[in-house]
Order: sequence, then structure tokens, then C-alpha cells
Amino acid sequence: MEQYTGLLRFRPHRRPGHRARVLAAAVSCVLIAAPASAQDRLRVASPDGRNQVTVELRDGSLFYSLERDSRPVLLPSRLGFEFQGTAPLRDGLRLVDTTRNTVDETWTQPWGEVARVRDHHDELKVSVTETASPGRRFTVAFRVFDDGVGFRYEFPKQSGLDEFAITDELTEFALADNARAWWIASNRPRLDRSEQLYSSSPVSVLDSVQTPLTMETRDGRTFIVIHEADLVDYARMNLRGPRMENRTLHADLAPWADGIKVRGHTPFVTPWRTIQLADRATDLAPSLLGLNLNPPNVLPSADWIKPMKYVGIWWGMHIGTMTWSSGPKHGATTANTKRYIDFAAANGLGGVLVEGWNVGWDGDWIQNRNAFSFTRAYPDYDLAEVARYAHEKGVKLIVHNETSGGIQNYERQMDSAFALYHSLGLDAIKTGYVTDLTSEGHSHWGQYMVRHYRHVIEKAAQYGIMLDVHEPVHDTGERRTYPNMMSREGARGQEYNAWGGEGGNPPEHETILFFTRMLAGPMDFTPGIFDILIERGTGRPRRLEEPRVRTTLAKQLALYVVLYSPLQMAADLPENYEHQPAFQFIRDVPVEWDTTRVLAGKIGDYVVVARREKNSPSWCLGAITDEEARTFDIPLSFLTPGRKYVAEIYADGPGAHWLTNPLPVAISRRPVDATSRLDLVLAPGGGQAIRIRPAR
Ligand code: NOJ
Ligand code: CA
Repeated sequence: MEQYTGLLRFRPHRRPGHRARVLAAAVSCVLIAAPASAQDRLRVASPDGRNQVTVELRDGSLFYSLERDSRPVLLPSRLGFEFQGTAPLRDGLRLVDTTRNTVDETWTQPWGEVARVRDHHDELKVSVTETASPGRRFTVAFRVFDDGVGFRYEFPKQSGLDEFAITDELTEFALADNARAWWIASNRPRLDRSEQLYSSSPVSVLDSVQTPLTMETRDGRTFIVIHEADLVDYARMNLRGPRMENRTLHADLAPWADGIKVRGHTPFVTPWRTIQLADRATDLAPSLLGLNLNPPNVLPSADWIKPMKYVGIWWGMHIGTMTWSSGPKHGATTANTKRYIDFAAANGLGGVLVEGWNVGWDGDWIQNRNAFSFTRAYPDYDLAEVARYAHEKGVKLIVHNETSGGIQNYERQMDSAFALYHSLGLDAIKTGYVTDLTSEGHSHWGQYMVRHYRHVIEKAAQYGIMLDVHEPVHDTGERRTYPNMMSREGARGQEYNAWGGEGGNPPEHETILFFTRMLAGPMDFTPGIFDILIERGTGRPRRLEEPRVRTTLAKQLALYVVLYSPLQMAADLPENYEHQPAFQFIRDVPVEWDTTRVLAGKIGDYVVVARREKNSPSWCLGAITDEEARTFDIPLSFLTPGRKYVAEIYADGPGAHWLTNPLPVAISRRPVDATSRLDLVLAPGGGQAIRIRPAR
């Protein structure tokens, strides 16, 4: 296939020189250098003046603090590092220089929850040096936006600090309030540590938690989210809980097998530590702070990167009607795949995921991780023929690469595998890392794996391949620099409803995800299960306690609007969509948005979100609730005034209830305009999906 022969040319992003070019491109840019003798207490505020960071040296140690509307959010919090074989970089510091800068520019995303992003911030860089030998130097750069703060450490090249091994990053987040946090633990060994149910408790009792960590102050006036941005060559940051007597969270870096946290040499910059701030939970999303702290797109063209909906040879394996391994129930056969391709083509879905196509699944595939081949197909799966057929039908094949954490096994094969896929015109991969420690004994989240994930992104970009990563390291905004890094898992997705572990996902689960995991970036949650009781797939009625989906069917539709992913699965078996009028919503719902408005929301209770389709006047609205029935009166004032629209409404039908009666969906249509109001009635565990298109 001719059109796939030339590999894309681009220069992978290399830091840190890149940052200088970004700043040089800023629309308005003011640089002021302060003399070394400047005061030891420095302030920088957001453009709207509400968020203010103070940086100060106290007895030779560097601290920062954060206020919003002159009320403390973070009390003075320490900055610094500990190293192997050399003194910590923590005390005896002296201020040597400060610089300030203002940026106000707007950039566009090739795809996303919003089309345009404004980067408007004030920056303060504070450079310090050790007073004693070897006089090591570093700078902390703070960027203060109206929606929060990012800061990072920058180490210039210097003789006193060349090669180094960080054993601890001393960054603290000393919360002023005993805020309520929604969290998942970071210290429980399991196959994927992000796939947990959320708990909520005051910050003062937290132990070890993951980011994004979303918190609400006790007076309900401020929402705070701690996370990171632009994680390239460093360990993932978790947060170590406070000592009993205070509310200070500590950066907690995932280690190499030998316990070292980060290896590097100067010049070096760390990822940004981010503190997103909002007055209301509904103002947290879409979260753009982290994207603004990542370098711009480095790909010469993003035209080949196409968000899409997809079906897959996938749910069948999770409910036990098919297998990944070879044998009579093997899912990935040529004939079965063609059936899925036909279904996708007939319903306007862009892609077909095929899992279990490659050699390596027989036996215990989690243990036998080095047995995976990424080029050799099982004999009943003709990769070239399936690729040809997909191409003929205008459907993209999504190639599955499960590694089970066999990193060297994967890296050894990556070039030949990606070259093969590229030669067959296959331009999307779903990767997987079902493992706790890698085959080399490193943490799933340490620098070793961060480097690996980045290596895969760059390789994929080079071969023109889009990525959907399961069991990933958390999203820190990589998609801005590499828009082929599209979606990832990194939380409990729909698959838990098939397995029933811990009772599957409870009805509140997605209303928490929206305000926590989703603030990091898109998630491949895999919505759209219509056979809620998982009966038809298995051919027998289910008992109440058996695995099943814990939502109504209408809520499954609403998830397409609520949980953003540029690769959005219609996860059920194709036969379960047949003769289902509600499937029309999945056909219609877009995967790229121009505008996103969160109309109502309470963490763990409900979400109502409206999004306008990219390059279109149409809107979609998704509303979901936890186990409580709820009603919402929604003004459609976001519509263009004077324009006539039709609302296509998919609501919970009469008597719907997630536990006892999940299937009824009431589909209706009504004319609406910007002056209309919609009365949304959601069943317990229910939802509502609405498409609002211009009247013909
Ligand atoms: C876990 C992934 O989340 C799931 O989507 C996949 O089917 C299995 N691993 C097998 O790779
Ligand atoms: Ca998973």
C-alpha cells in the first residue's frame, strides 16, 4: 500500500533547550531581571490577581506558599532534594537571581475536549545557590495561572552537580485546611495500582495516594487538585500522607529496582508540580493547566491522527465467551474480525480492536510475558488479509500489544512490529502492561517505565501510529507535544463490571472519575454495554450477585459525553446492538469537541456536561447520577440565540433502576432553542444522553 511507505519525519522533543523557544514565541513577554541582593521573599500572582505564590528563604531553606483571594491554600512548604553519595540540597541556600515573565497566547488542539486553549500566566523564576562548597545551584520556576499554579526545578550545567541519583524529592504541599480528598492508594501492590475504587477522607488521615488528588476545603469554597505535568525523564510522583500532627503531603517518587528515584545529569529539569484551583467542582473540568505546561506539538503533521469510535474483539474475552488464547473459543479469527469490520463499517464506527491475535496468549500470559510476539499471528488470524479487508471497508484496525510488563521483550521487537503494521496501513495500537513490577524488577511507575512509555510514544509517532495505553503511567499532558498519544486507561474501567471484582464498579464510580482521574486527560473507559446483566452474551439468566454492569442503559449512553476519550469504544458485542434504537446515539455522538461546559456536578453524586461538536453547531449533553434518582432543570442558553434545534433525548424509561430494571430507555424528540429548558429525570444509577442538532 503505497500511501503508507514513507515514514514520518520529525524531531523528538528533547529538553531542556526547547523551553526557550516556547517562551520566545510568547505573544506578550516582559523580562525583568532582579539583582542578587533582592529581598528574600518574592511574590507572583495570577493574571486575575486571585492566586498568589510567595517564595522565601527561611534560615537558608527554600519554601513556597500559595494563597487564593488572600486566604491560605498551602502554608510554607519545603523545596529540595536528597541525593545518593552527596549532601542533600536543602539548607544553606542563598538567593542569587530572579526573573519574571508574562505570557498570554492561545493555541489550538488537533483534537480534545476544547479546540482552543489560552495560556495566560505570570512567571517567577527564583535561582538559589548553596553558600558552602560545592555551591550547587538550581532555579525554581513558578507559573501562576487563573486556574492554578505549576512549578518545577531547573538545574543548570555545573561542576558541583553533574551526574546525580535522587533518593528523595523533598517537595511538600502543606495544606492550610483539613480538606476532604478523593483518593486511591499508591502503595497497594496489585497488577495495576490505578485500578481501584475511590475513597474520600480528610487530608490529615491520608497515607500514600496517587495524583490527580482532588480536594475540597471544609467550607466548600475551594477545590484543589495536586498533579504533575510534562513527565518525560523522571519518576512518577505520588503523595505520601501527612505525619499525624499536620496536613503536609510529600512528593513520593516511584523507585528503580535498586531504590534510587531518579538518575540524571545536568542540565536537567523536573516535571511541573501542579496545583489546580477552582471555586466550584464544576470549574475543574476541562482541566487545561497541565496542557499549558507541556511543550507544543512537535509532529510536522497531525492530519493522520484521527479520533474515532471503535468496536472490538474484547468484551467477549472478559465475559468468557471468547478467549485470547488459541482454541475453539479463540476470538481473533479472520472470519470473526471481518464480521466486526462489517459491523463497524455499517454503523459509521471508525475502528476495530482485535485482542488475542498474536502468539503468546496460551498458558499464563501474565507470567509468560517474554513469550509475546508482536509480529506473529495465530494461524487462524491472517493479519495481512484482515488489514486489506479493513482498508477496503474504510475501517481502521487497532492492533493490540499486551506486554504484561515484559519491557525488554517489547522494546526488542518494537521497530520490526511497528514497521510491519505501518507497511500494512495499520496506524493505531492499544498497548497493555498488566504487571506490578516490570520484568526487570522496576516499579510500574518509576523512571525506567516513564522512559519506556515515552520511547513508545516517539516510536509510534515515527511510524505514524496512534496510541491507546492500558495500565499506563498517569497522564501528564503528553498529548500536547505528541497528539498521537491519544487515550489511556489508568483507572477502573468497564472491565471490572465483567469480572465483578469487589462488586464491579458501584453507581457512584463515574461521578468520581470525572472530578479525579479525568482531570489528567482522556480515558479509555470503554462505555456502551447494552446487555447490562451480561445475559445474552453468556446465553443464560444471571443471578443478582453475579458480575453485571451497575448502571442503567441510558447512563451507558451518557458516559460517551461525560468521560472524554478521542478513541471511544462501543464496548459490547455487536449482536447486543442489533435492533436497539438507543444505539443511534452511539452512532451519532462525536469524539472531538469545540467547547465543553460542566453545567452541574458534585463529586461522587452527579455530573451534567454539555459539549459542542468540533466544526459543527450540534451539541451533546450527558448527565449521570450515583445510586440516587435526581432531576435537573437545564436552561439551554448555551445554544446560539435565534437558531432552531431538535433535541434527541435518550432518557431512563419508566420504572428504570440500575439494580432492578436497568434497560428501559425512553427516546423522544422535541424542538428547542436557546430559551428552552430541559427537565432531566435520572433513575437511581441512571443517566441521560441528548443530542441537540440544528432543525432541518
Ligand atoms: C487489561 C486491559 O485493561 C484490557 O483492556 C485488556 O483486554 C487486558 N488487559 C488484556 O490485555
Ligand atoms: Ca486494565
